[in-house]
Amino acid sequence: MQIRPPGHRAPLARVNEPHAHHARHPRRAPAACERRARGAAAATPMTVTLAQVSVSRPREVRWRGQTISTGIFKEPVEGPVGVGGVNVDGDRQADLTVHGGWQKAVYAYTTDAYEAWRRERPDLDLPYGAFGENLTVSGLAEDEVCVGDRFRIGSVELVATEPRLPCFKLGIRLGSQQVVEDFLRRGRFGFYLSIAAPGELAAGDEVVRLARHPARFPVGRIARLYRDRADPDRMREALEIAAVPESWRAWFADELARTERRTGARLLPAAAAPAWAGYRPLVVRDKVSETDDVVSVHLTDPDGAALPAYRPGQHLTVDLPAGDGGASVIRSYSLSDAWRADAYRLTVKRIGVASSFVHDRLAPGDEVLAQAPGGMFSLDASEHHRPVVLVGAGIGLTPLIAMLGAIAAHERPRETWVFCGVRERRDLLMADRLEAIASADENVHLHVAESRGADGGGPPRRITAALLRSVLPASYYDYYLCGPGAFMQDLYDGLLAWGVPEHRVHFEAFGPAGVRRAGAEPAGVPGSTVTFSRSGVEATWNEPDEPLLDLAERAGASIPFGCRAGSCGTCATRVIAGEAGYMHPPAAPVAPDEILPCVAAPGGDLVLDA
Ligand SMILES: Cc1cc2nc3c(=O)[nH]c(=O)nc-3n(C[C@H](O)[C@H](O)[C@H](O)COP(=O)(O)OP(=O)(O)OC[C@H]3O[C@@H](n4cnc5c(N)ncnc54)[C@H](O)[C@@H]3O)c2cc1C
Ligand code: FES
Repeated sequence: MQIRPPGHRAPLARVNEPHAHHARHPRRAPAACERRARGAAAATPMTVTLAQVSVSRPREVRWRGQTISTGIFKEPVEGPVGVGGVNVDGDRQADLTVHGGWQKAVYAYTTDAYEAWRRERPDLDLPYGAFGENLTVSGLAEDEVCVGDRFRIGSVELVATEPRLPCFKLGIRLGSQQVVEDFLRRGRFGFYLSIAAPGELAAGDEVVRLARHPARFPVGRIARLYRDRADPDRMREALEIAAVPESWRAWFADELARTERRTGARLLPAAAAPAWAGYRPLVVRDKVSETDDVVSVHLTDPDGAALPAYRPGQHLTVDLPAGDGGASVIRSYSLSDAWRADAYRLTVKRIGVASSFVHDRLAPGDEVLAQAPGGMFSLDASEHHRPVVLVGAGIGLTPLIAMLGAIAAHERPRETWVFCGVRERRDLLMADRLEAIASADENVHLHVAESRGADGGGPPRRITAALLRSVLPASYYDYYLCGPGAFMQDLYDGLLAWGVPEHRVHFEAFGPAGVRRAGAEPAGVPGSTVTFSRSGVEATWNEPDEPLLDLAERAGASIPFGCRAGSCGTCATRVIAGEAGYMHPPAAPVAPDEILPCVAAPGGDLVLDA
C-alpha cells in the first residue's frame, strides 16, 4: 500500500455509462433512493465509482489550548487496500465512544458534495479525504442510500448504517468551525458503512449496490430528524426498522417519549403483541441432566404443533404447582437454545422452591403453563456483521448459549467472543456444544475462567473488565452480560471506563439485583409515604435500593410476584394516586395506569391498589 502525499487531489472518477446522470445532476432531491426503489427503476442495479480511498492514524493537534487526538487528517492510498473487521487497513479512529466500531467502520462521502462545497467555499482547501472520509464515491449522496442497503466495492461487502454527524474536529481539519454548522444545516452528511465481508478495494473500483433494504429509509433522513426534531411520524417509522442502529432508535424513542410527556399525544408504537396472551400449556418432552445441580427440560406443544419463534436471549415465564399443596409459583427461565419449532429448552439450576420442583418432580408428560417468550435482552442473529462479546457467569450463561446457538446457525460468520465464568470446569454448561461451535468456527473464540483454578492446577481466574481488555483486540464490540448483579456491575463499570459506549452494553439480571446505569438518577424519593389501599396499611420508603414489592411485604401487604426482576408482569399493580419510577427498566409490558413494584420505587407519596 502506497500513501500519496497529503493534498494530492485525485482526478474525478469516471462514472459508468448507464449511470452517467449522476455526473450531470450532482444535486438530487431528498429521498431519491426511496422514490427510485418504489418505481420501476428499482430493479436496475446502480453502479458508481470509488474516486479515492483515504486512511489515517490518530494524531495529536493543539486546539484552543488543548491537545486533541484525532483521526480526521486522512491521506490518499494508491493501489488495493485491505478492509476487514472494523477498519480499512491503515485507518484508526481516535475516540471510539463516538467514532469507529462495526457501525461506523468506514465513512463514505460523495464527490457531488465536494463540488457543492468548492463552489460555496472557494476559500477552503478541499482535496478528497478532507471531510475525514475513507471512501470518496462519485454520486452516492446520503439520500440515495438507505439504511441497510448492501454494496460491493472490489471484493468487500459493505452495509450502509447511519449518517455522520459533524463534530468540532471537522472544524479543526478544515480550519473553520462555521463548516461544522453548515455541514449539518446543508445536510451533506455522507454515510457510514459496516463491513459485511472483508476483502480488498481500490480507487477506480465500481460501487455496486447488491441489495436495497426493504424499509427504504434514507440515511440522510436520520440526521435531518435529529437536526429538525420535527417529524414524530418518521421517528416512529425509524423505531420499527431493525437496520436503523440501536443508538438512533433509542434516541428517537427518548425524543418521542419527551414529546408525549409535553403534549399528551400518544406517539410511541405499542409493544409488539406476544405470540399468545396469558398462559398456555406446554408438555415436558424430556429432562436432561447438565451438571450436578442443573437440568434442562424440553417443552413442546401438546398437539405437536410448531412453537412460535423467539429472539435468542428471551425467556419464558412459567407457572409451576411448586408451592405448598400445589400452589402456583411463577418464575422466569431463559430459553437456553436458539429457536427450534419442535421444542423450547429451559435450563434450570437448583436454588429454591420452583427450581427444586423442576429438578425433583417435573417429569416427561407433565404440563407446564407458560407465557409467550418475552424480554428485551436479545440479539439479532441476522446482524452478522456486528461483532459481539457474550459474557456469562454460572447459570447466567443460559441466554448467551441461545445467542451463540443462533450465531452458529446463521449462514454467515460473525466475530464472537464468549467468556464463561464457572467455579470449576465441570460446572461449564453444555461444554461439549460450546467447544464444538468454537472449534468448528474460527470466528468464535471461547474463554473459560475457573474461579477455583483450572483443572491440573492453573491459577484461579475470574471474568473482569481487565481480563476482557487483555484478551479482546479492541473495545468496539456489543457486549451481552448475564450473571450475578455485582459481577455485571463491575464489568459494566469497567467497560465504560475502557471507552465502550453505554448503549453497547446489554445485560440481564436473574433477580432483583440489576445494574445501575451510568448517569441514571437513582429512582425513588426518600421519605415518601406509600399506601397499600386494599390491605389498609402504609409505610415510609427510605431505603434507596428497596423495590416497592419488598416494602409492601414488610408492611404486610400482599402483592403476587414471580421473577422479582420486572420480567414476568405478575406483580403489576394499579396506581391510584402519585407516581413511581423504575430502578431498572422492566422487560414485561405494563399498562399505562400500572407499575411493576418489584423494580419500582415511589416518586413521592403514592397510593397503590394492593
Ligand atoms: C429473565 C430471567 C431469566 C432467568 N433464567 C434462568 C435460567 O435460565 N435458569 C435458572 O436456573 N434460573 C433463571 N432465572 C432465575 C429463576 O427465575 C428463579 O429466580 C430461580 O430458579 C430461583 O427460584 P426458586 O423458586 O427456585 O428459588 P426461591 O425459592 O425463589 O429462592 C430461594 C432463595 O434463593 C435466592 N435466589 C433466588 N434467585 C436466585 C439466584 N438466581 N441466584 C442465587 N440465589 C437466588 C432467593 O433470594 C431466596 O433466598 C431467571 C430469572 C429471570 C428474571
Ligand atoms: S414479579 Fe415479575 S414483573 Fe414483578
